[in-house]
Amino acid sequence: MRHLLNPLDFSTEEISHLLDLANDIEHNLPKYAHVCDGKKLATLFYEPSTRTRLSFEAAMLNLGGSVLGFASADSSSAAKGESVADTIRIISCYADICAMRHPKEGAPLVASQFSSIPVINAGDGGHQHPTQTLTDLLTIRSLKGRLDNLTIGLCGDLKFGRTVHSLINALVRYTGIRFVLISPQELKVPDYIRTDVLDKNHIEYKEVDNLDAAMPELDILYMTRVQKERFFNEEDYIRLKDSYILDKQKMKLAKEDMYILHPLPRVNEISVEVDKDPRAAYFRQAQYGVYVRMALIMTLLEVEKPC
Ligand code: CP
Repeated sequence: MRHLLNPLDFSTEEISHLLDLANDIEHNLPKYAHVCDGKKLATLFYEPSTRTRLSFEAAMLNLGGSVLGFASADSSSAAKGESVADTIRIISCYADICAMRHPKEGAPLVASQFSSIPVINAGDGGHQHPTQTLTDLLTIRSLKGRLDNLTIGLCGDLKFGRTVHSLINALVRYTGIRFVLISPQELKVPDYIRTDVLDKNHIEYKEVDNLDAAMPELDILYMTRVQKERFFNEEDYIRLKDSYILDKQKMKLAKEDMYILHPLPRVNEISVEVDKDPRAAYFRQAQYGVYVRMALIMTLLEVEKPC
């Protein structure tokens, strides 16, 4: 039995197969309508979510399976003090696979140690968000035709943004990847990402605070929101929340074939006037999230690809 807790749980070859499967699902959706008949997905969300929870549920429904779960800690027995370990023992009796989002880093890892069904990390605190990374990889590969030889700009809250941490972890395994890390001083990537991931893998990167200056060299611009829920005081959040606002003027500085990604939700960091730009790929990205989660559920449940 396999879990997905960290993007590195899958080799690049396995990720390539998974993205190929997601690509086939995108183009042949009806073919997959019954491959998970009789299977159940539990969504255990201790933190708010729109995309991740609902795209997981849509994914399982598209595969012919069923879904159950809770959308907040308050509506589960966590509110009465039940541990993650006990909860997953119970869920293992009710479902075949589960996706868990939790504010505590490592909670899905703990769950996997007590689970008899595959556990998918759907975001743990400011740590990792591997299924967002699979979504991002599918989006980049679909739009650019490759996952290597790209200059990727990551902009915004690089300190608390778990999607950024997971994406960096995943992309350093491909050749010719350069990062431009664009953030205010207080929201730079954590030291462990710089030393244990970027430096250790001899990745070319620079840390800057000026988005305009970075725009012309980027193949992908990955915007992120400032993560209000991870701040210790509101004053800091208010001071930093509008550090970057991508608008039409800034888009004039970008390459014609540069794409903008964003894990969403967006707050102010991308002006709505940018949505009409053909390079704005963040809503397509959310759609890719359904296909890649379908592929992931099939892979972890060891469901055969239909002919
Ligand atoms: N991208 C993402 O994780 O969105 P949600 O918080 O809405 O799930």
